[in-house]
Amino acid sequence: TKAKLWGGRFTGKTDPLMHEFNQSLKYDRRMYDADVRGSVAYAKALSRAGILTQDEMEKIIHGLSTVGKEWMDGIFQVKEDDEDIHTANERRLTELIGPLGGKLHTGRSRNDQVATDMRLWLLDEVRDVEQGLRALIRVMIERADQEKDYLLPGYTHLQRGQPIRWSHLLLSHAFSFRSDLERLQQLIPRISVLPLGCGALAGNPFAVDREFLAKELGFQHVAENSLWGVGDRDFIVEFLQWSSLTMVHISRMAEDLIIYSTAEFGFVTLSDAYSTGSSIMPQKKNPDSLELLRGKSGRIFGNMAGFLMTYKGLPSTYNKDLQEDKEPLFDAVDNVSASLKIAEGVIATLTVHPERMRQALTMDVLATDLADYLVRKGVPFRETHHISGRAVALAESRGCQISDLSFGDYETLSEKFSEDIHKVFDFEASVERRESIGGTSKKMVERQVQVLRDVLAK
Ligand code: ARG
Repeated sequence: TKAKLWGGRFTGKTDPLMHEFNQSLKYDRRMYDADVRGSVAYAKALSRAGILTQDEMEKIIHGLSTVGKEWMDGIFQVKEDDEDIHTANERRLTELIGPLGGKLHTGRSRNDQVATDMRLWLLDEVRDVEQGLRALIRVMIERADQEKDYLLPGYTHLQRGQPIRWSHLLLSHAFSFRSDLERLQQLIPRISVLPLGCGALAGNPFAVDREFLAKELGFQHVAENSLWGVGDRDFIVEFLQWSSLTMVHISRMAEDLIIYSTAEFGFVTLSDAYSTGSSIMPQKKNPDSLELLRGKSGRIFGNMAGFLMTYKGLPSTYNKDLQEDKEPLFDAVDNVSASLKIAEGVIATLTVHPERMRQALTMDVLATDLADYLVRKGVPFRETHHISGRAVALAESRGCQISDLSFGDYETLSEKFSEDIHKVFDFEASVERRESIGGTSKKMVERQVQVLRDVLAK
């Protein structure tokens, strides 16, 4: 028990399975850099508080940089009793510089240390995730800008509804990602709160300058209550919630593309780079990338729900349950980052088939336009809806399209129809009429591209 940093009051040995159960180093080692940075800042604060001499501080900082370098070079030797990244780094520091290393933890607890490390680590990751999200939005904007002339049916209930531009559909997903970008940025001030200096729970008795610590480590704020500082993991919940909603958006876009890539639709073909084959059916090319994007969303929701359950019943401040914050967070960061990159690659390499989209445009998707035609002739919409519906039924009973009905047929449905009725049966004209903000006309699609470009420029 001497080897354990907390071993002083212990005489009995830790059960071997308990030892294994308690160990978090196998996953929290990825925070080694945050842990070293936090310790360097803390050594400086201790020196300013008169606990360490200038020389002691320099020796500690030098030792810490060696510890960090060993991790980076992959040569850090893990010892049996290294419980987590904090104990491992302190043990190694003390090996390197002697008993002086034992001064570093003065007034500090692993409770304020781990909360600080998590926040520092997550702040770095959020920056990377933000870049991934921006890259995805960027390829969507570029495609949308180039493919504005492709028309296809817009669906509700997966039933053909009204004609739209392909770019309008792509951009609809990009606007979800725009909200995700805003939300991600809004998390940062709440992650960027410094727990270091809260001690185990009651605060720091050596008058360390916490505002100095915050500045050194780049935190925007200082935790104002030490009990809260060591016990709060809301920032992790918020990141998991953010990840969940972002994955919903990725999953819904994936679902659209899975449907559109079937032979029955044939609107898009996934590149080979993002597809796989079947081990038995030689003809198969499956959209595995999209299915994994849809599937990964499930595990991310699991991470969120799982951690909320861990978190909900805890008494104030630190409890070891909180060690269970790491794996769900790490898993979410890894899988959301990968999902953003895969989604970007899928969109960038997708082949679009505008002729198949065009073929799917049957005249019935202009039934709303037919009703609107009569509205423009002064008939109340409720009546025009009914008249247009009767035209649809008549065409259906004859096995033809509404554009095949004769002018005589239309005259029997309403006396307001005139010879210009044929102008209704034009998909391009239909989309161009949707020219209010948010509509699918070319100008409004261009506007959307511009709005999103402005978002990315910020
Ligand atoms: N490995 C621990 C965690 O991840 C560090 C904090 C341990 N604190 C304690 N009082 N046992 O939460």
